[in-house]
Amino acid sequence: MGQGLEQQSREQWKTRSGFMLAAMGSAIGLGNIWKFPYITGENGGAAFIIVYLICIALIGIPIMLAEFAVGRNTQKDAVGSFRELTPGKPWFITGIFGVAAAFFILSFYGVVAGWALSYTTKAMSGDLLAVPADQMADHFVGFISTALSPILWQLLFMAIVIIVVVKGIKQGIEKWNKILMPTLGVLLLILVIRSVTLPGAGEGISFLFSPDFSSLTASAILVALGHAFFSLSLGMGTMITYGSYVPKDVKLPTAAVGISLADTGFALLAGLAIFPAVFAFGMNPGDGPGLIFITLPAVFEMMPFGQFFSVLFFLLISMAALTSAISILEVPVAYFMRKFEWSRKKATWILGIIITLFGIPSSLSLGAWSGFTIGGLGFFDAVDYLASNILLPLGGLLTALFVGWALGKKKSLEIGGLSEASIWGKLWILGLRFVAPVLIIIVMLNALKLI
Ligand code: TRP
Repeated sequence: MGQGLEQQSREQWKTRSGFMLAAMGSAIGLGNIWKFPYITGENGGAAFIIVYLICIALIGIPIMLAEFAVGRNTQKDAVGSFRELTPGKPWFITGIFGVAAAFFILSFYGVVAGWALSYTTKAMSGDLLAVPADQMADHFVGFISTALSPILWQLLFMAIVIIVVVKGIKQGIEKWNKILMPTLGVLLLILVIRSVTLPGAGEGISFLFSPDFSSLTASAILVALGHAFFSLSLGMGTMITYGSYVPKDVKLPTAAVGISLADTGFALLAGLAIFPAVFAFGMNPGDGPGLIFITLPAVFEMMPFGQFFSVLFFLLISMAALTSAISILEVPVAYFMRKFEWSRKKATWILGIIITLFGIPSSLSLGAWSGFTIGGLGFFDAVDYLASNILLPLGGLLTALFVGWALGKKKSLEIGGLSEASIWGKLWILGLRFVAPVLIIIVMLNALKLI
């Protein structure tokens, strides 16, 4: 009886496409449009991309399916799902790592998303393109190191995230993703068409698509692997949480493949929107994190109708960041709602505010508080390092071992919706048992500078 009531009141996605768009919205974010292009630029282009695609196929898709399966089977949050499947065992700690990772990641994600929002308004007002190209870097560094302004933009961004999540799965998260994701696709296509039709775009296209494996380094391979995780929103219970709202009739393997393809397609399109333009105007593709905030505005200045395209571009980033941030906040919200029986409203506001406050030192660490370091890293970088290099891979590793080994093959195949006789079922279990754990351990040891 109690169980029945609980299941009745638990939220679900309204439609299959609503779920797909929300999961794509989670995956497609700053990782695709900000980070993927700059790490591709830093690591030499096409050869790096090929390694990245292999990582998506070998560990990304299997772990995404594992997360969906765990969430959908138990209809519980990131911690509760492990508790239900293996009661009395310590596997739930995986979920605790996830909730912690969500907390840390969202704190600085909100800071970068705030920059994107601010750049959107600067692009609209014309202030951005009024900055002389050679001063774009100073302008950006000046902005992010100011004490107050970036924090106000971060607060505004986080307020929007909270308002969406308060509304719940159907009325908030699903509804917003249904509007934002198609818009995102259209904006990106317009930008790609603009970029690849510029005179001189060919060099940028071949940078993306003609591989030179001699330039591929070992560290590039590890960067690719770590990023596959981040980009697919794996390792912290996001996909467990989103999976827990999925109706029983949705085919999870197809969903995992579709979402991964969409995420990868988006990253490649973002590369196609950026590099041809960067090369066409003789800029440097290896400019690192400043690529979209420094190099691109300078590119827009030289482009016909550059202001229009700059507004589209920064809107695109802000919206992509929003749909991802929503999914990150939902992880602790779902956990606190069940564990402490908080209402959605209470959980969202309290957790949202705490995470936002925790992001403030991240923002300040790029300016006023830059003297304060933890193990040689500023606060922003330290939080990013802890979450992206330790908690996420650890979460992914434990999830793979959990579904690969602890649950037992039969149960895993059943909740994943694959049969033992099929090649996909075999490959999935093999991936979770051996391939993913080994690769993840190598990446972690490297990130910890142990190898
Ligand atoms: N995948 C998102 C991006 O590419 C970020 C993100 C959302 C994420 N949820 C996550 C990263 C969970 C790691 C884990 O920007």
